[in-house]
Amino acid sequence: MTLIAELERTAAGFTAALADAASVAEAESLRNAVLGRKGELAVLMSRLPELPADERPAFGKAANAAKERLNRLLEERLASFKAEADGASLSRFDPSMPGRMPERGSLHPVTLVMEEICRILNNLGFETVDGPEAETDFHNFEALNFPKDHPARDMQDTLFLGDGLLMRTHTSPMQVRAMLERKKPPVAVIAPGKVYRRDYDVTHSPMFHQVEGLLVDDAVSLAHLRGVLTHLLCELFGPDVALRFRPSFFPFTEPSVEVDMSCVICRGSGRKSGEDACRVCKGTGWLEILGAGMVDPAVFAAVGFDPSCTGFAFGLGVERVAMLKYGIDDLRLFFENDLRFLGRFVK
Ligand code: DAH
Repeated sequence: MTLIAELERTAAGFTAALADAASVAEAESLRNAVLGRKGELAVLMSRLPELPADERPAFGKAANAAKERLNRLLEERLASFKAEADGASLSRFDPSMPGRMPERGSLHPVTLVMEEICRILNNLGFETVDGPEAETDFHNFEALNFPKDHPARDMQDTLFLGDGLLMRTHTSPMQVRAMLERKKPPVAVIAPGKVYRRDYDVTHSPMFHQVEGLLVDDAVSLAHLRGVLTHLLCELFGPDVALRFRPSFFPFTEPSVEVDMSCVICRGSGRKSGEDACRVCKGTGWLEILGAGMVDPAVFAAVGFDPSCTGFAFGLGVERVAMLKYGIDDLRLFFENDLRFLGRFVK
C-alpha cells in the first residue's frame, strides 16, 4: 500500500473511532494513539524518506492537512461532550427546591443582658458612661477608700501593668471618673463593662462584666436604692421578685449591703418538686445578686465633692444575671464560643 493510501486509511479509521467514542477519556486516548508524538501519523511522516524525492512535498502537505483536520474533528467532539455534560447538569437543577438558608448570627447572651440592664436604668434617667479597662491604682482603689496594703485589696487581685496601672477589678472606678468629670451633684450614671480578677472556676472567670450604678443628689437614701433595685430586678426577672438587704462591707460604701433576691427557680420556697432542696439557692430561697450601699464620705472627699453629699452606688455582675435568667450553671460556657450554645440566643 502506498504511503498516501495508508494516510487515508489512518484518517478514516480515526474519524470512525472518534464518532464511536463514548467519553472524553476515549477521545483523548484516540488523540494519543493517532495524533500524539509517537502516534500513527507521526510514524507515517517518519517514513517520508521511503518516497521518491519528487513525491515527498505532496505527501508532506497531505499529512499536515490530515493532521489539522483530525485535530479539528477531535476538538469538536470534545466540545460536544462538554455541551452534553452541561445540559445534563442543567436538567438536574430544580428551581423549585428551597434555597440554602444563610446562618443567622445573634448577640452574645452577656451583651443581651447587659443591654437590657442598661435599657431599664436608662429609662429611669441614668446616663451610660464608659471608661478605660487599664485603670490607675488611684481610680480603682485609692479614691474608693482602699488604702495601700489594706486587706480589702486581696479579694480583688488582678493583672498589674506597671506604672501604677492595672486591669480594673470592678466598674466602681467609673464612679470616681464620673464625679471628677461632673464636678458636683447631681450625678446619675451607669457604667457597663469588662472587669478582671485572678479567678477561675465554674462560677468565676478572669474576665467578666459588671454594670455599676451611681446616684448622687440631695437627700438620697437607702430607700431610693431599694426602689431602683427592686424595679431593676422585677423588670429582669418578673414582677414577683422580692429583695432583701444584708449588712456587708465595701470600702467605698457606708453602710454597705449585699442584695439578695428571691430564688427565681423555686420562687423563694427553697424547695423544688416536693421535698428536694432547690439546687440553685441551696434551699435558702434567696440568691445573692449584687453589692450596693451609700457612698462613703471618704469617696466624696477623694473626688472633691462635699463630704456631706448623699448618694448610693451598686455593682451588678452581668454573667450572674445571665446565668439565672437563662438557667445556665457553668459560667465558662459564655467564653468558649461554642455555636451550639450561642445559637440558643438567636431571636
Ligand atoms: N465593686 C464591687 C465588686 O466588684 C461591687 C459593688 C459593691 C459596687 C458595692 C458598688 C457598691 O457600687 O456600692 O465587688
